[in-house]
Amino acid sequence: MELKEYSFKLNDKPVVVEAPPAYTLLEVLRGILNLTGTKNGCSKGECGACTVMINGKAVHSCLTIMEQVQGAEVITIEGLAKDPLSEAILRRFVEEGAVQCGYCTPGIVMASKALLAKNPRPSVDETKEALRGNLCRCTGYTKVVKAVARGVEFG
Ligand code: FES
Ligand code: FES
Repeated sequence: MELKEYSFKLNDKPVVVEAPPAYTLLEVLRGILNLTGTKNGCSKGECGACTVMINGKAVHSCLTIMEQVQGAEVITIEGLAKDPLSEAILRRFVEEGAVQCGYCTPGIVMASKALLAKNPRPSVDETKEALRGNLCRCTGYTKVVKAVARGVEFG
């Protein structure tokens, strides 16, 4: 199988990986780099379980080919450890009971982080819009939207 080399920044560290050019970022993260926090729900861009941040934007990694990742800055759920904004988001999720099985949670947290990093006090409508690409089968959206729309403050 033909392999190509890709260099990018992953969770604040430079990484070089060899992968078939047809691979998606999701396949590379889970299958080659063993970062299984990013979930595969549908592989078709419909559920948002695979959401990561690329250059600060929430992106479906199952639709992202490796060529698009070359030279980019990628953050996955594993990269959020010890990050104050991420901790604040997770605290809100727990307070509002916005997690049940948790399968959708990594993707929703990534999409929420991309929103709250730019807009710490989003309205309910802005929150709904930012989470439009993320499906949750068990918690429903009310608690998730409430958790995110409460916003975050620091200090
Ligand atoms: S796995 Fe990517 S959107 Fe569902
Ligand atoms: S908490 Fe189970 S799919 Fe969302």
